[in-house]
Parts: sequence; C-alpha cells; structure tokens
Amino acid sequence: MTPQAEAPTIPQGLIEKLRAAKRVAVLTGAGASAESGVPTFREAQTGLWAEHRPEDLATPQAFEKNPGRVWEWYEWRRSLIRDVTPNEGHYALARMEKLLAGQKANLTLITQNVDGLHQQAGSQNVLELHGNIQRTKCAQCGNVATHWEKSTSLPQCEQNNCEGLLRPDVVWFGESLPLNVLRQAIATAQGCDIFFSIGTSVLVQPAASLPAMALEAKATVVEINPNPTPITERVTYALEGLSGDILPRLVARIWD
Ligand code: APR
Repeated sequence: MTPQAEAPTIPQGLIEKLRAAKRVAVLTGAGASAESGVPTFREAQTGLWAEHRPEDLATPQAFEKNPGRVWEWYEWRRSLIRDVTPNEGHYALARMEKLLAGQKANLTLITQNVDGLHQQAGSQNVLELHGNIQRTKCAQCGNVATHWEKSTSLPQCEQNNCEGLLRPDVVWFGESLPLNVLRQAIATAQGCDIFFSIGTSVLVQPAASLPAMALEAKATVVEINPNPTPITERVTYALEGLSGDILPRLVARIWD
C-alpha cells in the first residue's frame, strides 16, 4: 500500500452481518502487532544476534545443544517488547468482544502472536496457537509457569522437585501446535458466521488453513491487510489497510 492510498470504507453489507452475527472468529498475525512496534522474528535478528538464523535458535535441537544461548536470545527478545503497548487495533478487538457479548454473541480470537498484547488490551477469549513468550514450560514435565528464577541462566522447574530445564512456552520449528488449542481453533473457524483474517500473510500452516475452513463452512470472510495474501481473491471482503486504522472505524460504525 502506498502512503497516499485511501483508507477503505467499511462495506454496508459487513456492518449488517456483524450486527446479526452470533459467532465471530478472528485470526491475527504479526501485522496486528506491527503498529505497536513489535519486531517480527526476522526483524529481531540484529546486533549481537544478526549472525544467527532463527531456525538455529528456535528449535528443540538448539535448546538441547545449547540451552543457555537459547535462553539469552529469548531474554533479549523479551527485552525488545518490554515497553511495547497494545495499539488501536488490539483495543478495538477487545471492545468488539465485549459489545458482541452484549448482543448475546461471542468472539473467539485466534492469534499466532506470542507477545500477549491482545490480553493486555482486554481480550479474554484468546487462543494462542504459538504460545506466549512471557511464559515458560518445563522441557521435562511440561508444567507451564509465568514466573521463573531469573538470577540463574538455566532456570529449573520447581514443580514437585522436578528440576527439569525450563524453556520458553512457544512453538518452535519442527514442533506441533498444542493439540487442544488447535482443535478449538478449527472448531471456531468451522462454526462461525464471520471470520476475520488480520495482519497475517496466511502462509504458515496450520493457521493458514483456518480462513479456507471458514469459507468452506459458508462464513463471511474478511481480510484486513495492506498487502495481498493467498486468500485475498477468495474472501468476501478484502479491506486493504492497517488494522490499527480499520478496526476502530469498523467498531465505531456499528456500535457508536
Ligand atoms: N495491519 C495489518 N496487517 C499488517 C500490518 C498492519 N499494520 N503491517 C503488516 N501487515 C501484514 C503484512 O502485509 C503481512 O501480510 O501482516 C502480515 C505479516 O505476515 P508475517 O510476518 O508472515 O506474520 P504471520 O502471518 O503472523 O506469520 C506466521 O510465522 O514467523 C512465524 O511463528 C511466526 O507466528 C508467526 C508465523
């Protein structure tokens, strides 16, 4: 999108569908956090870490070989998002969830992002497909925790004297997504009236299959993205622009 490009108008048909909707699904990707200044995986490869490929750091094999280095990389990535705050798009989605609840409808937010900004903005019904960078998981017993002993470079699990090594609770290359979360995401896509695909390139599986599942189930599918993706030609409404601009305007048109 060129900077001069006009912001898209919100189609009247979409407004009516949202007013009547009972089940709304939203899939978000890195683009939803772009206006908050969250660096993407690859943008984060600067400075000291520029010579490392994410594939050499975000894998179970990398952790097995050198857990200290993987921890350091994640500490650094966490430091990059420490002062980041939700943007207008995050807040609009949280508001949409509440407003839909008021009309006896529900919104399920499925995110590929690991930054926790949707919850920070107030979204409650969130399925994290790729985990959360602020949580740890024991590599041995799988126990998930939000606090860990930062004074040691290799924190250990404190659950029942397990003492297994803690790792970030995120999905690494070559790992499967958490099965129960994926199942809920698929059921949500297949059972919704309206499906939003926001700020995602729709390239990384299995999340990339969710919009197609919603289309097959005859849902209205809306894409919000400044750039075309593999589903742009197939969706009901392709809104070309930024989520931080379009989402607040959409919510305001319907509920203000
Ligand atoms: N508003 C909406 N969309 C935007 C914005 C914005 N402000 N800025 C960028 N985008 C769009 C881009 O045009 C692009 O299509 O967001 C998309 C981001 O694509 P990716 O970087 O591929 O992110 P994502 O789809 O989330 O990638 C999936 O891949 O790297 C792994 O695990 C990582 O969760 C990630 C997954």
